[in-house]
Amino acid sequence: MGASFYVLTTLVGALSCFFGEAADIPDLRYLKAYTAPNCTGAFYEFFDYTPELSVYAMDNSIISIRFTGDWMLYADNFYNFEVLGSTYYHRTGINICYNLDSPIAGNASSLRYAGSPYGIDDVYYNLYDGWAYSGDEFRSNTDAETVGHMDMRTTSVIIQGQSPWTFYTGLQFTGEAVCLYPTHLHSSGDIQIRTSFVYPVSNLGIPDNSIRSVAKGCLTDNVYRGALPISGQRSAEPLDHN
Ligand SMILES: *[C@@H]1O[C@H](CO)[C@@H](O)[C@H](O)[C@H]1NC(C)=O
Ligand SMILES: *[C@@H]1O[C@H](CO)[C@@H](O)[C@H](O)[C@H]1NC(C)=O
Repeated sequence: MGASFYVLTTLVGALSCFFGEAADIPDLRYLKAYTAPNCTGAFYEFFDYTPELSVYAMDNSIISIRFTGDWMLYADNFYNFEVLGSTYYHRTGINICYNLDSPIAGNASSLRYAGSPYGIDDVYYNLYDGWAYSGDEFRSNTDAETVGHMDMRTTSVIIQGQSPWTFYTGLQFTGEAVCLYPTHLHSSGDIQIRTSFVYPVSNLGIPDNSIRSVAKGCLTDNVYRGALPISGQRSAEPLDHN
């Protein structure tokens, strides 16, 4: 009995370990930064927020990028926090290569992604201080009765995954509300990314710097149905959200 019990617990241990790893699917998100056009030659591969590319000897040297996910590059350290909304680059895609254009080509000093750190199309939102996803942020995958340090500071919004979100101008889901659905789908092989991105927040019909709380789902009749305010996102299909 003792021996078979031991075998059983070992097996269960091995299985839970297996499922633990299987559930913890390796993140599909990456960004390979190349110092030559067309994603050729040497590269450095990034997986996470990088406030100072100089740490990786990549400051002012990225010319092309191959990536999966929703990534932003900024001309200044710490995501343009000093000059909110200055030179940046934002693209969503799946294993896609872009040559950077002037003025960001050879001029990026920091980079980060939008969306969930846990999975590429997980339900998530990011709120940013400045134009063009710059500066401080508040990010979460759940209701927030206050957005804390980003209270009444949000100018740019990105959402991802298969859920709309409702943004409120009052604390604890009060005040004016607007609902934002993911409006675009990027899809390649098994990978999908649903996203919407908006700035300034006044494009949603609420004042800029007014967001104070956020709830999952579409909890108001005031649904934002505008087109994406930024053009140039290739390979994305519009999503129906009626
Ligand atoms: C990049 O690719 C394009 C299209 O294939 C080609 O016309 C161009 O010459 C390439 N540039 C470099 C620097 O290799
Ligand atoms: C690099 O970005 C900065 C903004 O941080 C801008 O002032 C400058 O003109 C850019 N440089 C080039 C070479 O495009």
